Amino acid sequence: MSEEEGQLEARLEEQEEFEPPEGFVSQANVTDEGIYDEFEENWPDCWTAAADLLDWDEEYDQVLDDSNPPFYEWFTGGKLNVSDNCLDRHLEERGDEVAIEWIGEPTDEDNRTFTYEELHREVNEFAAALRDLGVEEDDVVTMYMPMVPELPVAMLACARIGAPHSVVFAGFSAEALATRMNSADSEFLVTCDGYYRRGDALDHFEKANEGLDGVDHDATTVVVDRLGDEGHGHDLAENQHDYAELVADNEGAEIDPVERDAEDMLFLMYTSGTTGKPKGVKHTTAGYLAWTAWTSQAVLDIKPDDTYWCSADIGWITGHSYIVYGPLALGTTSVMYEGTPDHPERDRLWEIVEEYEVDQLYTAPTAIRAFMKWGKQFPEEHDLSSLRLLGTVGEPINPRAWKWYYQHIGNEECPVVDTWWQTETGGMMVTTLPGVKQMKPGSAGPPLPGLDVRIVDTEGEEVEPGRAGYLTVNKPWPGMLRTLYQNDERFVEEYWAEYSDVDSDDPDDWVYFPEDGAKIDEDGYITVLGRVDDVLNVSGHRLGTMEIESAIVGVEGVAEAAVVGGDHEMKGEAVYAYVILEDGFDGDEEMRSRIVEGVEDAIGPIARPEAVVFTPELPKTRSGKIMRRLLEQIANDEELGDTTTLRNPEIVKDIQQKARSDD
Ligand code: WTA
Repeated sequence: MSEEEGQLEARLEEQEEFEPPEGFVSQANVTDEGIYDEFEENWPDCWTAAADLLDWDEEYDQVLDDSNPPFYEWFTGGKLNVSDNCLDRHLEERGDEVAIEWIGEPTDEDNRTFTYEELHREVNEFAAALRDLGVEEDDVVTMYMPMVPELPVAMLACARIGAPHSVVFAGFSAEALATRMNSADSEFLVTCDGYYRRGDALDHFEKANEGLDGVDHDATTVVVDRLGDEGHGHDLAENQHDYAELVADNEGAEIDPVERDAEDMLFLMYTSGTTGKPKGVKHTTAGYLAWTAWTSQAVLDIKPDDTYWCSADIGWITGHSYIVYGPLALGTTSVMYEGTPDHPERDRLWEIVEEYEVDQLYTAPTAIRAFMKWGKQFPEEHDLSSLRLLGTVGEPINPRAWKWYYQHIGNEECPVVDTWWQTETGGMMVTTLPGVKQMKPGSAGPPLPGLDVRIVDTEGEEVEPGRAGYLTVNKPWPGMLRTLYQNDERFVEEYWAEYSDVDSDDPDDWVYFPEDGAKIDEDGYITVLGRVDDVLNVSGHRLGTMEIESAIVGVEGVAEAAVVGGDHEMKGEAVYAYVILEDGFDGDEEMRSRIVEGVEDAIGPIARPEAVVFTPELPKTRSGKIMRRLLEQIANDEELGDTTTLRNPEIVKDIQQKARSDD
């Protein structure tokens, strides 16, 4: 490092506040600080600002219907179609502009560019095909697809005919697919033959078929041919159809977008919670699209002429909201990349930014930590001057990683938006407006205008600045989940019961609890500390400890298991499993790999345990509850807290020794 560079690093290290870069502010979509007061005063009518970004077939009567909390309804009486809003309305002015720029993993493969016109055509043809297959309005269509362009095509085709989709992340297991299809009674599946991962042509169809074996009803399947000659040569069964053939059969078809009620379901997304069973989060048409469009404009600063890139996977909410719906509603170019950042080399993302002159990059702290570890020489090889804004989402970002991103990717010229939100919130909630607010690395920022976020103690009282508490949202917002699919009771229980008066009809008595810990500073900036329920955040992916535990207990020879999250330099958190075996089984390597396999089969490789520690007992309280806190301390090799309330304190030292000797 040169002396000059050294001084720069030292200055950045000390700096705690950063002004929005002037070059950015001069062109930003939102620059008036008055928006915060204005939205507060005009709440909930302020959200017409979001609704105005959409085209309506029929105007709504009411912005918010809060007569039956927490079952809030937004823009009631309005009618619109999401595919119309993401495609048709752009055709006249922007038909020849690129909607999706798809980049495959193999560098010698041509990218696939879809203009709005082309995307519109393919969505229409596939919508017609879905109808031919028998998909009707309100039928749930499952998609089990990696990052191929046919995934957004299928999502928009469903939206066009009013069929909600349920996208299952391609890295999830066959079993996870079956559970979700059964839970949603989904009789249609769109999947593909395979995809590339670090140079290998993976077989995805085999996994999809295995999943279908576990589905308790018939399912019609459409299969996209991604790999061509490198595919794995599976034959299609009678109720399985080739995507390309279906689209060709419907060449030139035009399907009128179905008028949907504002509150009709747009999609379901299953996510992990406290219990073993994933929750089907329900999002609706108008509120969700308004929310993702408005936040894309206000926070990501998206303009139609931008080339915008969110490097998430569409199988997660980030990809739904900020690769597909928000950006396309605004008529911009959304980049979609199939591969990983380190293939073929660790400069792959920077190569893409340079080649496509990307304006905004939205990624995750786990990726930024990896870039930082690999070193600045990789971004330095490329011209990244097209970048105007950087974003991060998924887990807390530590100030060092934030500053590295700001300096080495953004060249201190791009604001960094650290955006806190969840599958359930539909879109961003807590983050700076980049053209207005100062940035404080490590803190996501104030709540967005029109949101009432408070940090409270267990009694619901607001805590002093600087003290840790629980994050709560005290007023509804358009992008919020409406319920858990076919489970209103669990919806109330999981998100509202903690801080609400559940017998009240007064919306003021209802508080949404996202199950995150947080603190707030004197300026109202919020630092999110992480989940306070039994959900782990591994590389920005939400995993339920109960789901992993039940997978482990399903392995032959396992009597009991406890899973906790341990700190991990790259992943943020990693899965630590403590396992009791049945008599007659040994905690050997074979057992360990059977457990790892069991978890991969039940959930997917993302949930693979970092460590499996065999123990004759788990630390339990006198009432028989597992003391997870102690297990976490053991995983982190930290000093152990109080063990005197345990029924079996002697076991703790034993487990600790075993964990250490396994390292
Ligand atoms: C965590 C992903 C700190 C949080 C969009 C939340 C964050 C969970 C941030 C939701 C952030 C997300 N800072 N923590 N900027 N963004 N989280 O549903 O714990 O996959 O509850 O949605 O990720 O994860 P989910």
